[in-house]
Amino acid sequence: TVLVLDFGGQYNQLIARRVRELHVYCELLPYDTPLETVKAYDPLGIILTGGPKNVYGEAAPKCDPRIFSSGIPILGICYGSQLLAHTLGGQVSHAPQGEYGKAEITYEQSVLFSGMEQHSECWMSHMDYISKAPEGFAVLAATANCPVAAFGNDAKKIYGVQFHPEVRHTVQGMQILKNFLYGVCGAKGDWTMKSYAATAVEQIRRKVGDKKVLLALSGGVDSSVAAVLLHRAIGKNLICIFVDHGLLRKNEADEVEEVFCRTYDMNFTRVCAQERFLKKLAGHREPEEKRKIIGEEFIRVFEEEAKKIGKVDFLAQGTIYPDVVESGKGDAALIKSHHNVGGLPDTVDFDEIIEPLRDLFKDEVRALGEELGIPHHLVWRQPFPGPGLAIRIIGEITEEKLEILREADYILRDEIAKAGLDREIWQYFAVLTGMRSVGVMGDERTYDYTIALRAVTSVDGMTADWARIPYDTLAKISNRIVNEVKHVNRLVYDITSKPPATIEWE
Ligand code: XMP
Repeated sequence: TVLVLDFGGQYNQLIARRVRELHVYCELLPYDTPLETVKAYDPLGIILTGGPKNVYGEAAPKCDPRIFSSGIPILGICYGSQLLAHTLGGQVSHAPQGEYGKAEITYEQSVLFSGMEQHSECWMSHMDYISKAPEGFAVLAATANCPVAAFGNDAKKIYGVQFHPEVRHTVQGMQILKNFLYGVCGAKGDWTMKSYAATAVEQIRRKVGDKKVLLALSGGVDSSVAAVLLHRAIGKNLICIFVDHGLLRKNEADEVEEVFCRTYDMNFTRVCAQERFLKKLAGHREPEEKRKIIGEEFIRVFEEEAKKIGKVDFLAQGTIYPDVVESGKGDAALIKSHHNVGGLPDTVDFDEIIEPLRDLFKDEVRALGEELGIPHHLVWRQPFPGPGLAIRIIGEITEEKLEILREADYILRDEIAKAGLDREIWQYFAVLTGMRSVGVMGDERTYDYTIALRAVTSVDGMTADWARIPYDTLAKISNRIVNEVKHVNRLVYDITSKPPATIEWE
């Protein structure tokens, strides 16, 4: 294991992902983790991340200073390198002007930079800079604005880099991380999804024994992978409840049932609760209200079903690593109350929670899914919100509107797939705007709904840009939707990025 100590920088999860891409298992821990806890992991090395503060300020976050003399190899990145320099007797200064973006860099001889081109490009993002390396440490790289872009001591196995090797714009960044992990820390790089899956199955078996686990299955990527993993470990002692709230896309509920009931022969119950949800939603137009109603009703249905089963030993959740380490601590404003199917019902009777995916990033969950042999289209499914189509129908939800939206969305997905764009576009869907307008079909006047297309590129859903779908594809989608879907006579394409818009319309 390699430990990444999190000082709150924007690329921290990315560092952890890069380390794992190099087949070294790592975990992200708070920056102030005490040495005793660090040692309990018996880590091969420690990476100190970037962060928004400056090292000489009162509020400067510091790690346990004993870490520096523990003999464990250390790589400080950005703020992490300044903290190293500051603590070990170097000098960190305030620059009149920050340095952001690409910079030409020259590397010197070092284990950290072995096998690399001497002149290259790196990615900088900092205000302060290291003006003097600590005593006993060599200056290992420089840029025009940064006299100490890297420093280190091969014998002590301690290094600091001002730039960001984890960002793709740092041309040889992966090589630097590799040199640190393999060359300095002696990591073997033998962490793979295959070994992870085998270990996870073993661990679940040991933890659960022949007890019972209850899981709310939504058909989304995370809960599907969790289900198959648990099923492989404990078979029919996994009880899956699939609450069909009637707000899924066309054919989706049947597909979920097909896969888990027939392909995997799981202990699986589909609760058909469409009417209950529609009744609760009737008359409600406000987005937050709709979200809350669906979240609450979901828990109620799940609880009722769980009561029929009686006491279970474990409740499984599809929590993934970003949920666990979400670095955006603090008081972020509430934009939308997110509802994740699989949220925690208070009154279900269970002893313990089990979260088989809590160590994995989203792309690793997908890789695990592939490893477990889950059908491709399930593993690569685009993100889909818990409240489903209800937040893609502006205003009140009715069965008729759901039907219109399902058909339009189905055509959109079909055409995107035919155009070969389904992997490229991060998320794409149709929205039934509450608006109606005048059209003409044949010789008749129509007064029908407007469908909006939403398609975005994104990495994590936090920010997004609208996808540049070719005009021809847009034309096909538009033609088909207005011709094939009743009560739609107009189609518009949403060309706003996030921010200022959000991806979903509600
Ligand atoms: P927004 O609309 O906030 O969406 O830009 C960002 C991403 O989150 C998804 N989303 C949700 N996912 N429960 C979820 O599990 C929710 O309540 C929810 N609301 C939005 C959205 O589809 C996009 O991928």
